[in-house]
Amino acid sequence: ISLRNHKPLVTVAARNADVRPRAAATYKAAVLGAGGGIGQPLSLLLKMSPLLSHLNLYDIANVKGVAADLSHCNTPSLVTPYTGAEELAESLKGVDLIIIPAGVPRKPGMTRDDLFNINAGIVKTLVEAAADYAPKAWINIISNPVNSTVPIAAEVLKKKGVFDPKKLFGVTTLDVVRANTFVAQQKTLRLIDVDVPVVGGHAGITILPLLSKTRPKTEFTQEEIEKLTVRIQNAGTEVVEAKAGAGSATLSMAYAAARFAESCLRAIDGDADVYECTYVKSDVMQELPFFASRVKLGKDGVEAFVHTDIRGLTEYEEKALQALVPELKGSIEKGINFVNKQP
Ligand code: NAI
Repeated sequence: ISLRNHKPLVTVAARNADVRPRAAATYKAAVLGAGGGIGQPLSLLLKMSPLLSHLNLYDIANVKGVAADLSHCNTPSLVTPYTGAEELAESLKGVDLIIIPAGVPRKPGMTRDDLFNINAGIVKTLVEAAADYAPKAWINIISNPVNSTVPIAAEVLKKKGVFDPKKLFGVTTLDVVRANTFVAQQKTLRLIDVDVPVVGGHAGITILPLLSKTRPKTEFTQEEIEKLTVRIQNAGTEVVEAKAGAGSATLSMAYAAARFAESCLRAIDGDADVYECTYVKSDVMQELPFFASRVKLGKDGVEAFVHTDIRGLTEYEEKALQALVPELKGSIEKGINFVNKQP
């Protein structure tokens, strides 16, 4: 497995902006929720992609200025704002990649599941439009609770007859980014070298970093493993508390989402060496129809699951994996029921 995914995005983009990119920028992406805390910095990072020719920014408000601002950067993509439900369809036509950070973020004391009531409906509406106007696009879901919003998106796409399980992704890259950062700090490793797979889901104990699979091979004491695992699981809450009511992770999330989007675009573009951990329709765990694990991305989406990551786990990891099953199963069912109880 290559570590190419870990090249710092900004360096790659900045270099390619001056020296003509390998292939012309040809792909189109839409960010739904582009005016928000994640949406704005994510759009900036996407504007630096050498692979994008068009960047459509959709939000219910606040997106015209963001697009005007970004459009002055001398990078390839043409930035266009789309405001309000009546412009949603237009923002989606012909796009290859749809990224959804629309919705409300957590405040101190809230779990991701507390966001369900508002965000479930937002994701449902946006994915319905995606099914109608960009049925072949890859979809990256950021809106929380990801454990439920991805199953919601899948049900919506199924109802519309356009569900391609290989092209629907819950973005869990921030968990991997955090795991890599914390392990590198703890073990004084070069950040660029560190690779920790994170499996399961994207909330509390469903986030399971597989520290025994860290590359380069790294030894941890049991105390280190427990502390690091809990820190990675609660890292989102660390940010929510530090922001004290002003929202959750936005900048690190934008960085992580941009890395994941760039991986999707590289795979669409024919790069045969793209691997990411992501929450997808999966048969890796028998009882869980959706599960985050490392996958190989190809031209048509998920090409293969990297089963070796979850084989030969330590006893601690195996126990944690079994412990997350009921919670993740419940979140998946909640998402599925949300769509099916509605007319
Ligand atoms: P924010 O409140 O700053 O921005 C959300 C944006 O969505 C706003 O601009 C708002 O106008 C827009 N929006 C609301 N309803 C919409 C609709 N129907 N259509 C289009 N846009 C709509 O929130 P922030 O901080 O950007 O977070 C967004 C979401 O991302 C939250 O659900 C948050 O929990 C989630 N998140 C996910 C992470 C992950 O690792 N997957 C990490 C951090 C946050």
